[in-house]
Amino acid sequence: MTAASIKEVARHAGVSLGTVSNVLNRPNAVAPATRQRVLDAIAELGYVRNDSARQLRAGQSRTIAIVVLDVANPFFTDVVCGAEQVVEEADAMLVVCNSGENDARERRHLELLEEQRVRGVLITPVGHGQQPRLDRLHERGIPVVLVDRGSGRAGRCSVAVDDLLGGRLAMEHLLDQGHRRIAYLGGPFSIPQVADRHAGAAAALAERDADAQLRIAKTTNLTVAAGRRAAAELLTLPAAQRPTAVFCANDLIALGVLQELTKHGRRVPDDVAIVGYDDIEFAGAAAIPLSSVRQPREQLGRTAAQLLLEEADAGATHRHRHVVFQPELVIRASSDRPRR
Ligand code: RIB
Repeated sequence: MTAASIKEVARHAGVSLGTVSNVLNRPNAVAPATRQRVLDAIAELGYVRNDSARQLRAGQSRTIAIVVLDVANPFFTDVVCGAEQVVEEADAMLVVCNSGENDARERRHLELLEEQRVRGVLITPVGHGQQPRLDRLHERGIPVVLVDRGSGRAGRCSVAVDDLLGGRLAMEHLLDQGHRRIAYLGGPFSIPQVADRHAGAAAALAERDADAQLRIAKTTNLTVAAGRRAAAELLTLPAAQRPTAVFCANDLIALGVLQELTKHGRRVPDDVAIVGYDDIEFAGAAAIPLSSVRQPREQLGRTAAQLLLEEADAGATHRHRHVVFQPELVIRASSDRPRR
């Protein structure tokens, strides 16, 4: 059964279309008895207003979209929660789109969001491939803010965490603990966060101890399963080449490494120390609590949403900003013992 139209409501209540519109948008402009007749007709016919059509006509949608890389990663859940707080305070709605680290899916989401003329888009891009499409959204008056990604571009706001510093903090900690054979687990390196964390770690190692080794174990994605696979590969190395510590591009990989090492009887941190990245809730709650480089996840989401709403309200007069937060190393049992 299709929903009743506004015309059927007007006919049923014996009033004009304009009176029904007034009841919906300016109820105090309608006499109480007439207003009640219209409300009764709406209830009896099951009429539901088409808010997106109204918003399109008004040119002012109340929907904001956030496109995340991986909806299964608790990092993004926390970012979304932060953005949602700000969006709802602005009497708007946040819809979540998941690119799954897939360019084609990300492109499709952006196409649909443009058609819907949403009020703005928050996005953690899969790579750099969508720049032209993001520019087009701007040209159509739909502001875009990059989340968890710096933007070297003047014409776009961004919020990010200094991942180079984050990689440095993790590496300096492992070197301080006496580790000299260290592996970096993460991938694909087309994701800037993955590349930057490695670059920060490599720079710290080069400055501190040229004799130490940093092996890269590239993963196909940033999931627990990818961490298990990477750890299984490291365990096949001859003992003399096996790393005594692993720095993981995010906590999901670190949790997979912890699971695989434990399954094969390896002691953490005595045989292998582990450091993750994000400090999601499950890091501290793991069977052997994980050390991790903490990102201010909800603050990232809140700040990105604030920048977007500012731009949506200010339009061309908006001054674009690039906000960079500092990471923090949280040391827990998975790496807290010096290498003997
Ligand atoms: O999306 C991949 C990773 O990048 C997340 O785990 C988080 O670290 C983000 O910065």
